[in-house]
Amino acid sequence: MTRNTAVEYLGWIGTHTALCRAEVARYAHTHWYDQGTGVVGLSDLVRRDYRGLPKDPDRLWLDQMGGVMKLARVVKVVSEPPAVLEVLWRMIEPNLRAPHRYKLVLSGLGVPREFLKELHGALQEKSGLIRAENAHGQPMNTGRLFRENILRRGGEYTICLRAGEIIVAETVAVQNLRNYRLRDHQKPWRDSYMGMLPPKLAQIILNIADPRPGETVFDPFCGSGTICGEAGIVGVPTVGEDLAPGHIAGAQENWRYLTEKFRLEGGLAQWAVADATKTHWRDRQGVLCTEGWLGQNFREVPTQDAIGRSRQQVGRVWRQLLGQMRGSGIRTVVACIPRWAHDKSRAPLSAEVRRWARENGYEPVRGLGGEETYVYSRPEAHTAREIIWLAKKI
Ligand SMILES: C[S@@+](CC[C@H](N)C(=O)[O-])C[C@H]1O[C@@H](n2cnc3c(N)ncnc32)[C@H](O)[C@@H]1O
Repeated sequence: MTRNTAVEYLGWIGTHTALCRAEVARYAHTHWYDQGTGVVGLSDLVRRDYRGLPKDPDRLWLDQMGGVMKLARVVKVVSEPPAVLEVLWRMIEPNLRAPHRYKLVLSGLGVPREFLKELHGALQEKSGLIRAENAHGQPMNTGRLFRENILRRGGEYTICLRAGEIIVAETVAVQNLRNYRLRDHQKPWRDSYMGMLPPKLAQIILNIADPRPGETVFDPFCGSGTICGEAGIVGVPTVGEDLAPGHIAGAQENWRYLTEKFRLEGGLAQWAVADATKTHWRDRQGVLCTEGWLGQNFREVPTQDAIGRSRQQVGRVWRQLLGQMRGSGIRTVVACIPRWAHDKSRAPLSAEVRRWARENGYEPVRGLGGEETYVYSRPEAHTAREIIWLAKKI
């Protein structure tokens, strides 16, 4: 495939930058990444529309990416600052409709706030219908852009200075916080003791595995069914299994809820009570995406002994599971392994899991920055998730 040599979109990636970049690299070509602002220059967006949803393609792309908070389409690249005003006016003028005020947000990357303030002033002089929402050029977060419906009631434009050029980009989609709440805090069956995967992280895991049309996503430790639910939302068939019958019943309840809220196809998901260490993988084709068992849920700083026990128990499960996967049709594995904040062992459990994976025909895949794993942690948590990515050796 010939790549577009020009940046077509700007994407704002989440806080776990290495992980989010690994995800985005599966669904776009990345030209550059700006560490200071977390912005990536993208082209050749890979679109998946397995469900034929009546949605704008840019909106759909962003809705499927857990690690990209905002997407802006490049409108024009200019070399001189005065040309920016002209470009903005051409974009905004056709959308002005009296008596409605047009909510305007201007954001800058590498440009002084003074320049944004001047642009705001000049545009407001051109039309009294324009209302500057951030007249002082201060950045506006994606939460506010979403809550205040800026993209419907006006627009956000980003002026990005890079390599002597000025990129003018129009925000086309921001993360839909309401939809994330619906499938996180508002889902009917939740288990606070076990802890549940945030849907955004479930999307990232799925996207790194990148199931192809016709493939199935297997989650052998499905718990409340977050990963299976996200697969269903994209339109990918999925199998959720768990040792605990109560969790399977809960996952099914959540699936019925998602089916209603997101109009999912009922037949896409299958559920079963099963022990992941005894599953026969030989006849299974597709990808394995999971937040595996994380061991004991520590509420307080655990002792080294307690960590050691959890490490042994969880390790045994992974060792057996990977042993069962030898010769299976599972092409890719993306899984969370526990990593204990206070663990004094020399190597994390994930290193052992990768060794067992190698012994059973899988090879770790490295990320863009050469990473073999990605740590996803919350500041207060005693157990972090370490994400490993394995591909079947051919
Ligand atoms: C961290 S939770 C998964 C949570 C899930 N990702 C979610 O979002 O709800 C791990 C799950 O693994 C299950 N489990 C533990 N050992 C298992 C085994 N040997 N086979 C299958 N499931 C197991 C537990 O019952 C639990 O539901």
